[in-house]
Amino acid sequence: MDKLLIHGGISLNGEIRIAGAKNSALPILAATLLTRETVQICNLPHLYDITTMLELLGCMGLEPVIDEKLNVEVNGGTIKHFNAPYELVKTMRASILVLGPLLAHFGQAQVALPGGCAIGSRPVNLHISALQKMGADIVVEDGYINATVDGRLKGAHIFMDMCTVTGTENVMMAATLADGQTIIENAAREPEVVDLANCLIAMGAEITGQGTDTIVINGKTSLHGCSYSVMPDRIETGTYLIAAAATRGRIKVKDTRPDILEAVLSKLEEAGADLRIGDTWIELDMHGKRPKAVSLRTAPYPAFPTDMQAQFTALNAIAEGTGSITETVFENRFMHVHEMNRMGASMHVEGNTVIVNGVTSLKGAPVMATDLRASASLIIAGLVSENETVVDRIYHIDRGYECIEEKLQLLGARIRRVPS
Ligand code: EPU
Repeated sequence: MDKLLIHGGISLNGEIRIAGAKNSALPILAATLLTRETVQICNLPHLYDITTMLELLGCMGLEPVIDEKLNVEVNGGTIKHFNAPYELVKTMRASILVLGPLLAHFGQAQVALPGGCAIGSRPVNLHISALQKMGADIVVEDGYINATVDGRLKGAHIFMDMCTVTGTENVMMAATLADGQTIIENAAREPEVVDLANCLIAMGAEITGQGTDTIVINGKTSLHGCSYSVMPDRIETGTYLIAAAATRGRIKVKDTRPDILEAVLSKLEEAGADLRIGDTWIELDMHGKRPKAVSLRTAPYPAFPTDMQAQFTALNAIAEGTGSITETVFENRFMHVHEMNRMGASMHVEGNTVIVNGVTSLKGAPVMATDLRASASLIIAGLVSENETVVDRIYHIDRGYECIEEKLQLLGARIRRVPS
């Protein structure tokens, strides 16, 4: 298992490009199951999770083709099996995203039930109850969700008890081929939901209200192929901006979307960052100053994203003052706190809040990544540490950050990957 070796203490400085968004690309790949025609997907990030989703489509009999520009073409017409096996679902929970499309298009799906994970119990009850309301017959047994429908799914009025991103995506995809109108209330408003809706519209779906809490879908009898480019990754963007702010550096991130990062950018300004913003780029300059601690509370979009919480915890670790960070989306997303304390940070967890008293510097230590965003936060902690940090279990980082050590090296960081 590879590790990352980081020699901290260098201010990041330079320019990087942002990759396509993992959390849009995954549902968009699943959406290719809604048509028998070819869907071309551009700007796919090169990530382990994307490979897993392609592998999942492959084991259903699809043959994704990668062209010379690294665009992927998928043709749902060659499907032979309608199941997502446990071996793949256990490595990537987002495999649940094939449930809605398989059921809506082929009338059957067998998807392993995802278990809990490092950040919380993460049930999929809302995905299941919404599809049942649309007429699906669903039995959960032997660790599998077995779903069938006689004929087409039926449009339905669905109220989501909690705001769920993949739940909204699953139901929205299923509804595109249902008979009649589906209204999803308390829908997730995340930009990735909007990106998926735009791809579905390009495939011939009739959807309105994406980006608001009420999405209306008028079902069609079939969808068609299209070419679609995945939007830039807002979490990757935010992670590099925070890394630059924590190291008192200066950075320009290109090929991104500042308009979907408001909550994060305003916290960076509060931390003392000087920001310049264009249509597709963001420049951040700390003018060599130590960041100021910020307090924040995670919540569904447009509020502060849970996927950026750990990275801000790392920034607070070495900031001036005390910041409190409250996590309201997942019940167990503070595993990085204990690792940062091992590096000399001063933080403690009180319920769903972590109180961080900023220290002037961290000390490198061997640390262990527990999930994707926690790994990113430990890398940031390593970048601001004196001496060497070794981050273990970095397969988590490869799931969601494209070429992270190359991009950080471009910004001047001393970081390298070493085999165990
Ligand atoms: N929830 C339920 N029942 C459900 C569905 C969700 O109780 O049926 C709860 C969850 O347990 C959680 C809350 O609702 O407490 C919100 O979870 P959500 O369903 O929105 O999360 P998700 O769809 O499983 C996506 C992202 C996550 C991101 C969250 C929140 C993808 C593939 N994953 O997960 O991304 O943290 O939304 O924004 O889109 C990551 O990229 O590191 C990551 C974890």
